[in-house]
Amino acid sequence: MTDLILDAGITVAACERKSADEPITALLDKADKEGWRIWLYTAQLAEVLQKLTLNADSNIGFQHVDMNIVQFNERQQLSKFASKHHWLSALGEDSEGLNFDDPTGHGLTRAAARLGKDVKVVTDIPSRLDSGNPFVDVCTAMKQKSSLHVDFVDLKGQQDRIRSRIEHNVHKVMSHGKYIMGPEIRELEAQLADFVGVEHCICLSSGTDSLLVAMMALNLSEGDEVITTPFTFAATGEVIKMLGAKAVYVDIDSTTYNINIDSIEEAVTDKTSAIMPVSLYGQCADIDQINAIADCHGLSVIEDAAQSFGASLRGRKSCGLSTIGCTSFFPTKPLGGYGDGGACFTSDKQLADSIRQLIDHGQDKKYNHKQLGINGRMDTLQAAILLAKLHSFEDEIVRRNEVANNYSNMLFKAEEKGFLRLPKIMEHNESVWAQYTIRVDNRHKIQEILNKSGIPTAIHYPTPLYRQPALLQEEVVCVNTEKVVTEVLSLPMHPYLNIETQEWISKTLIQALES
Ligand SMILES: Cc1ncc(COP(=O)(O)O)c(C=O)c1O
Repeated sequence: MTDLILDAGITVAACERKSADEPITALLDKADKEGWRIWLYTAQLAEVLQKLTLNADSNIGFQHVDMNIVQFNERQQLSKFASKHHWLSALGEDSEGLNFDDPTGHGLTRAAARLGKDVKVVTDIPSRLDSGNPFVDVCTAMKQKSSLHVDFVDLKGQQDRIRSRIEHNVHKVMSHGKYIMGPEIRELEAQLADFVGVEHCICLSSGTDSLLVAMMALNLSEGDEVITTPFTFAATGEVIKMLGAKAVYVDIDSTTYNINIDSIEEAVTDKTSAIMPVSLYGQCADIDQINAIADCHGLSVIEDAAQSFGASLRGRKSCGLSTIGCTSFFPTKPLGGYGDGGACFTSDKQLADSIRQLIDHGQDKKYNHKQLGINGRMDTLQAAILLAKLHSFEDEIVRRNEVANNYSNMLFKAEEKGFLRLPKIMEHNESVWAQYTIRVDNRHKIQEILNKSGIPTAIHYPTPLYRQPALLQEEVVCVNTEKVVTEVLSLPMHPYLNIETQEWISKTLIQALES
């Protein structure tokens, strides 16, 4: 990714450019074509406006005009230009060059270093150009090399779109200083509960802890059996074993990769206490049918919705479908923070109260530890970031679905030829596309070719849980899972993946499959 910061004079030239043959126009066109990011330094806002007004003033000459209107027009001009680019924050450290000859140049240098090691500042000031890196003129900036680049999940691109909201929220927490259980936690819980359509949301430290405390609140312990899927991330099986309970693994449906509903009933014994379906890759397991089985046997249902927050089943949101819904806000999840985080959802007040206690060392009031708990609270800073991200989440769900449709349209012919299997979403589901996962025969070779072309891929997951050393159950064999773990391959997936990049990924994949 190429990042260029425009010095004040260049920003002014960019705002005022009139003809296509100006060097700055060529630079901006190239940046646009290559997907380079252009930054304006907030510490130069006043300087840019002043220069714009001075230029306008000298163009007007001796005519009588209202300067308020001139200044308004200049602000509009800057605002229009800036709306297509990014504002780069000035921080306190940028002012540490006050003893130097060029404090602003010092600030620009600090800001550029913060943004990344290859970031350049495009300037027209000779003394800055003389001082060398990071300063370059327009012609040198044009020569920046760009390469086709794709991230498996592009968190930077998302951050660019919501940067000012994130900065606002983070600074608010730094000002009030309530780093543990600050007001952002309750605010986030209210918004998330509303989003899902349940009465209670409890934010906590991770997706893993959300599963752990959900099970603790349901009093699951040694001797209990929990029916679940072996085709999932380790956390699902880990928490069951951690509490001394036994995971009873039921095979998956090889179309959705979620637990095979038809096999659940036969796995129920008199020790079964709960069913823990996983809504894998962003598509809900059929929790309605699972609830019906659970009701017949008096069992609880915990949805492991770590990958499906934002998805829907028959119009109802994931996390609000069962006794307790648990999710993860790991950074690469559909709604991800900037660190670990998770949440439990329920409409049962007693369970909600218990979970609140459990994540706070089992306290019902200060220093009264009513039950054995953990430190499972979410950090206020994490809640502040998630609040900023939640704003664009609905839009991102739409984008994720568009990206998935694009892949499917680009790859369906390869599926018809039998080269791969595309993901299938059931009619009653709306997926949030945590992953776009295909199935291929010669996975190792395909992955190698994609990797060599610079296309990152991932395998979710290579081993059934019952064959993981820490979760070993040698007697278990789930036939569908055994096959699927050798074939699944996840392609880059995020809401801001553009069509050109998807075409490149699909073309490279098809070539690899045909070779
Ligand atoms: C299905 C599933 N369950 C549980 C978790 C655990 O979430 P966390 O990483 O937030 O602890 C994950 C995270 O990858 C997951 O994918």
